Amino acid sequence: MSMTLLEMTSARRGSLRRVSGPAALRRAARERGGEQARHVPTLARELLELLDPQPGQCAIDCTFGDGGHARLVAERLGPSGTLVAIDRDPVAEEGFARLEREVPCAVRFIRAGYAEALELLAREGLRADLAYFDLGMSWMQVDARERGFSYSYDAPLDMRMDPDQPLSARELVAEWDERRLARTLRDLGEERRAAAIARAIVRRRSRAPIATTLELVEAINSAVPAPARFGGGHPAKRSFQALRIAVNDELGQLDRALPRAWGLLRPGGSLAAISFHSLEDRRVKRFIAEQVRGCICPPELPVCACGREPRARSLSRRAIVPSAAEVARNPRSSSARLRGARKLEDSQAEAS
Ligand SMILES: C[S@@+](CC[C@H](N)C(=O)[O-])C[C@H]1O[C@@H](n2cnc3c(N)ncnc32)[C@H](O)[C@@H]1O
Repeated sequence: MSMTLLEMTSARRGSLRRVSGPAALRRAARERGGEQARHVPTLARELLELLDPQPGQCAIDCTFGDGGHARLVAERLGPSGTLVAIDRDPVAEEGFARLEREVPCAVRFIRAGYAEALELLAREGLRADLAYFDLGMSWMQVDARERGFSYSYDAPLDMRMDPDQPLSARELVAEWDERRLARTLRDLGEERRAAAIARAIVRRRSRAPIATTLELVEAINSAVPAPARFGGGHPAKRSFQALRIAVNDELGQLDRALPRAWGLLRPGGSLAAISFHSLEDRRVKRFIAEQVRGCICPPELPVCACGREPRARSLSRRAIVPSAAEVARNPRSSSARLRGARKLEDSQAEAS
């Protein structure tokens, strides 16, 4: 009998079961109780300084996670402010119920991909003063073994942030052809050995399905020469990153969400994003540059013919990175990059 989407992970290797659906994930998180890793928000002081939330404003936290940033922003919004929180993970939704009781402002949670949630908010006619993203995964996701995000624990191969979505890493690894797998590992993981790893995955799955993280790690290891397996990070790190990004359509979500978040902002409103790898940061940087840019006429034209005006002001000259002290306290913050832009007061134009 085939197993349902996610069923509970059991301790013994060979009998790993997958945790089934949002309710079971919430239950597993609750059962871990005090052992549950709490997420430490990255660049929190810098995000607050950049956005400068004011009493009475409306803010959209597009990646609620454990609510670390949301809580700090909500405190600043005060009793007359509103916080809209978005996350596609049911465990985040559970955490939101705690925050709701503790913060002074009006709050609302939407469990959905942020691209879809922002579209919904636009249809409702919401106007916001602040919108921000803290991209990637929360510690609760990485450290919850049964979610299958980590190459360090043996678990069912899953990697879905939203357990309701049909595609998991297991289906992807079982069904995508070798070329598509290689392209994914190269483009989303910047994995130099993408072709060899894809070949090893296809060879291995022809013998038996790859159902667990450890089986995938073994397939990846078989494509990496022994000397390269030591030093330079875990040999499966880049492949796991690539598969996670693909399973959760992270770049597609971001590309759709940035203009939608921008469109919801009132004139004078601010957008900020914290990214953790260059694929995300490049998108955020390009998006902000597009809004900040004025005339796009060729330089040889003596006068402007395009009439295009800047729509935004960048909030920092370059990406803001964590201090050495923050990286020492929280090594997971080391690759973080924060960028932001403020919509000009007289800006009417939509994002491009
Ligand atoms: C880095 S964590 C955010 C942590 C949060 N800022 C905090 O301080 O606790 C990223 C969160 O964004 C969520 N997420 C990632 N991509 C998403 C998407 N496309 N739509 C909705 N939520 C998403 C993840 O489920 C995760 O909970």
